[in-house]
Amino acid sequence: EQIMKGNYDHFMKKEIHEQPDAMTQTMRGRVVFEPDGKTVQRVFIGGMVDYLSTIRRSRRIILCGCGTSYHSAIAIRSLMEELTELPVTLELASDVLDRQCPFFRDDSIIFISQSGETADTLRALEYAKSKGALCIGIVNVVGSAISRATDCGIHINAGAEIGVASTKAYTCQITAMVLLTLALSEDSRSLHDRRMEIMRGLADLPDNMRRALELDQQMLSLAKTLVNENSLLLFGRGFNYATALEGALKVKEVALLHSEGILAGEMKHGPLALVDDTLPLVVIATRDSSYVKQKSVIEQLRARDARCILIVGENDDSLDQYACGKDMIIRVPEVADCLQPLINIVPLQLLSYHLTVLRGHNVDQPRNLAKSVTVE
Ligand code: G6P
Repeated sequence: EQIMKGNYDHFMKKEIHEQPDAMTQTMRGRVVFEPDGKTVQRVFIGGMVDYLSTIRRSRRIILCGCGTSYHSAIAIRSLMEELTELPVTLELASDVLDRQCPFFRDDSIIFISQSGETADTLRALEYAKSKGALCIGIVNVVGSAISRATDCGIHINAGAEIGVASTKAYTCQITAMVLLTLALSEDSRSLHDRRMEIMRGLADLPDNMRRALELDQQMLSLAKTLVNENSLLLFGRGFNYATALEGALKVKEVALLHSEGILAGEMKHGPLALVDDTLPLVVIATRDSSYVKQKSVIEQLRARDARCILIVGENDDSLDQYACGKDMIIRVPEVADCLQPLINIVPLQLLSYHLTVLRGHNVDQPRNLAKSVTVE
């Protein structure tokens, strides 16, 4: 086991740092470059070619999974809606069965699972097949039950993930679904410029991720200031609502610290009542179409003396005045808006890792949790 961990103390840390290479593996053979080796020409996903037109003709796309895999569904939803121009809805796998969701023959349903063995997701998949829907898998483990039972899909090729808290599978799932979304929209002329922007962003993504990993020491310092807290709230919106949810899940499941991810647009509808000068808050405010609204959220929080930790673009110093201390402003590399969640989650993964070590908890096997939940 020690050999497998290499120079790292824990699998979680190793897997966080493997993300740039894992993401490269997700894209390998699927992102086709121009002869210059830098410009992306097109996206080609062998296993999906025969199914793309069926998905384009479906009445809607449904994304389904549990835990972190469900958060990757939230992260891709808006881009998938934008580029496919289809309605994209989300389902937690266990809820599909509880509600006996109305699924139809002309639905395309994407099942997302790192292990490919999660019982709730597998049962939802069997249910969807019985309704005649097209079932697509986004799976890491080759040969797993979900990868075998789906009609088609993409293996994310992230390599073995051992830490119970999912890290590299999350970013590789989103990357694989960005590729799928680009493949689904390749014939659109009106989306040409937008697609090119995203493809250029994909080519630079592993390097930008490497730079985000350099935040490690700052996240250790920040974790030291938060180690004795009882609660941490994270606010995100738009592309980064998923980042808030996934960051909170990491803090909760490994650091055993109560944490909630909140859609910033909902702040006034309840969470604001919790805000005072003691509760630490993380606000994700990288530049995208919701930046102005997010700035206004920060102003309202600061008006209540909130302890704000801000995640901002590295070239943006206009929010510095709102952060409470030097370690409280986290500067991340700036990438295309829809790819920004892949970068923004990195400091939060590092923060949850350091909080766990400092609080003396088991990093790779948090109490009561299992890597793969094979019972309903
Ligand atoms: C368990 C794990 C989570 C994981 C979820 C879904 O709850 O502890 O880390 O996100 O299952 O797992 P899957 O293998 O289907 O992605």
